[in-house]
Amino acid sequence: MRRRNEHVNPLPHHRRIPFRFLAGPAAAALALAGALLIAAVAVGAQEHPAEAHQHADAQALENPVEPTRESLVAGRQRYVFLCRQCHGNRGAGDGDMSHAGGIPSDFTDDVWTHGGSDGEIFTVIKEGVTADMQGYANQLRDEDIWNLVNYIKSLSRD
Ligand code: HEC
Repeated sequence: MRRRNEHVNPLPHHRRIPFRFLAGPAAAALALAGALLIAAVAVGAQEHPAEAHQHADAQALENPVEPTRESLVAGRQRYVFLCRQCHGNRGAGDGDMSHAGGIPSDFTDDVWTHGGSDGEIFTVIKEGVTADMQGYANQLRDEDIWNLVNYIKSLSRD
């Protein structure tokens, strides 16, 4: 009896390449690409010191936006959409969405791991520091980021 697919595939049965052997290398290549990506992010994060430190160049940035009520309200609006899930409703670092194992900073204490000047906080938000705390340069205008700086600084004064 002829096998149904014999004339469709001219290769003798034993020379057909089973799908799983094709899937194997493809899956491995994908996994490797993924691993490399994670490694690249991890290396980036490793280069960034975990202990408290400062950034002199960022310190030199001046905040052009006064912490007016209007600025704080605008900052709060962005915060609710983009930051609250990790940094918590009141900024205490108690949101539960952190996905890469990082501990979201508490904005209500005096500790600023990456420097507490307006320019340093601005740079952290704009450029990011870890896989969890990624930069928002693509999502936020500079003015929005300064509003966020004003807002999260206001949390520690409450
Ligand atoms: C997916 C979770 C996540 C989101 C969303 C997130 N953050 Fe973070 N953030 C973190 C983590 C984790 C850290 C601590 C990074 C480290 O290890 O230093 C951090 C650190 C920071 C710091 C540094 C504080 C310091 O002590 O120097 C600032 C500022 C900050 N985040 C602001 C924001 C703002 C503003 C937003 C929203 C636009 C935001 N974050 C969104 C997880 C998040």
